[in-house]
Amino acid sequence: MKFFVDTADTTEIRKALAWGILDGVTTNPSLVAKTGRRFEDVRAEILAMVSGPVSLEVTDMTLEGMLKQGRDLAALGPQVVVKLPLTREGIAACKALTDEGIRTNVTLCFSANQALLAAKAGATYISPFVGRLDDISMDGMRLIEDIVQIYKNYSFKTQVLVASVRHPVHILQAAKMGAHVCTVPFKVLDQLFNHPLTDMGNEQFLKDWAKVPG
Ligand code: G3P
Repeated sequence: MKFFVDTADTTEIRKALAWGILDGVTTNPSLVAKTGRRFEDVRAEILAMVSGPVSLEVTDMTLEGMLKQGRDLAALGPQVVVKLPLTREGIAACKALTDEGIRTNVTLCFSANQALLAAKAGATYISPFVGRLDDISMDGMRLIEDIVQIYKNYSFKTQVLVASVRHPVHILQAAKMGAHVCTVPFKVLDQLFNHPLTDMGNEQFLKDWAKVPG
């Protein structure tokens, strides 16, 4: 399973890259707004340091606008994946951009039927938002299970990109279900390292090592 970091904060991306386990980056308009920086500056910095897929989202909701923004974003670098909302226009834009050889990530997916539409439009990735479903007392990971099964049934090439991840258990479940990618907030990526027995074991090893005659 691939790990993407779900952030537009370049300090976080740099730290995650240094761990050597990062496959790509996803951003969205809210994450860019959180940085307080211009989108042009943020995306240029991200593209300069990340060689894997970088999802950059369109903000024009018309088909023509999405196509223009999508083509402009794709021209920024070979890593760019154009992120499109799961609307009628977004799905039409997905089909058109896919036909032009541009990679797409269809976002704001909350049902398996929506995921089916994205796959039929040739999306490179589908982003089901598990945390936001959990927030309204639905089972976000059940949606991942359904989409993985449906895509397998028909051999769709679209990759399941688990988004709106809130905690490490989402990642464990996604891996067991065979999801292709998890996009993870930096804080949750960092939590994956933690285990008290690792810390205690390491502390003991170092204490014992200090007793070894030099
Ligand atoms: O990037 C899309 C998604 O991961 C957003 O997550 O936490 O805002 O629901 P969240």
